Amino acid sequence: MYAAVVRSFDHPPRYEEFEAPRPGDGHVLVDVLAAGLHPRVRSGAAGTHYTSDGKLPLVPGVDGVGRLPDGSSVYFVAGDDVPGTMAEQALVDPRRAVALPADADPVVVAAAMNPAMSSWVALRRRISFRAGQSVLVLGATGNAGQMAVQIARRLGAARVVAAGRDADRLGLLGDLGATETVSLAGDPEEAAERLGAAAADVDVVIDYTWGEPTQRAMPALLKRRADRSAALDWVQIGSVAGAEIALPSFVLRAANLRILGSGQGSVTAAGIVAELPSLIAELPSLAVSARSVPLADVESAWTAPAAPGTRLVLTPR
Ligand SMILES: NC(=O)c1ccc[n+]([C@@H]2O[C@H](COP(=O)([O-])OP(=O)(O)OC[C@H]3O[C@@H](n4cnc5c(N)ncnc54)[C@H](OP(=O)(O)O)[C@@H]3O)[C@@H](O)[C@H]2O)c1
Repeated sequence: MYAAVVRSFDHPPRYEEFEAPRPGDGHVLVDVLAAGLHPRVRSGAAGTHYTSDGKLPLVPGVDGVGRLPDGSSVYFVAGDDVPGTMAEQALVDPRRAVALPADADPVVVAAAMNPAMSSWVALRRRISFRAGQSVLVLGATGNAGQMAVQIARRLGAARVVAAGRDADRLGLLGDLGATETVSLAGDPEEAAERLGAAAADVDVVIDYTWGEPTQRAMPALLKRRADRSAALDWVQIGSVAGAEIALPSFVLRAANLRILGSGQGSVTAAGIVAELPSLIAELPSLAVSARSVPLADVESAWTAPAAPGTRLVLTPR
């Protein structure tokens, strides 16, 4: 079969022949219809994701839409020990796959599920989120952030404050359910003050930035909080602005701040898969921006400038 193949961590994958995986252990071989080029896929192909084992060659791709031998389609999450999904064929563990409605668009599903799952799983599995609560999405202008805005509202959030740098994309988030928007552009301290003014009393932060925006936002929010004993769940999901923060100890004493993360490991694979059917059922109500590219063009697609807020999806056929 043909696949995207990584032979060196400092070079994008190339489209080349690769031995097709052989089904065993209850796995099923599917024809891949679409696989999303998510940040997680890039970091896996660069050997920098926290789950990377350094082994090469590898086929990237963590999820996708596949056609089963009976002609029906599934969304599936790739196993840890099998080649990835950016290939003409892939192995599917039926325990990590969910049937799709016949009219589901494979490109839309492949684009949406990974970014959408980040907030869906966080709100449903990591904290006790209740309808009527308020949410700040920090880093709302990317694919996962714009999904988080919509999903928080679908799950009953009364207020969603959306914060991001890109002014054009921020301007679109009101139509997707944001009740307020805050610009993270410009002077970082001023941006933190704006956040503090708009979002001091939220119940939940869904954090895709980490790094400097988070480091400045935490004290900025907490010092303006009307009731500092009210719980604030700060859910760490992405790190587009940096892998680390400095955390002054007073931040943890001065307010009822609970910092936790959501992702592979903090939620079991079974827990993530259990959320897939309900999220798939919600997909038609979510705005998804996707662009499909033939898998044969993977090498150029990998390095081409990405349109903000639009997920690239590779299609083998
Ligand atoms: N834990 C999980 O379950 C999970 C699942 C999916 C994704 N993630 C993670 O979530 C993050 C976002 O994923 P994604 O799919 O939304 O990626 P994406 O579509 O590439 O969006 C990333 C966005 O980050 C923003 N950004 C970059 N640098 C920034 C900075 N210094 N300050 C503020 N914003 C910045 C950019 O928006 P602007 O143009 O506005 O700057 C960009 O649109 C990634 O770290 C990804 O790995 C985690």
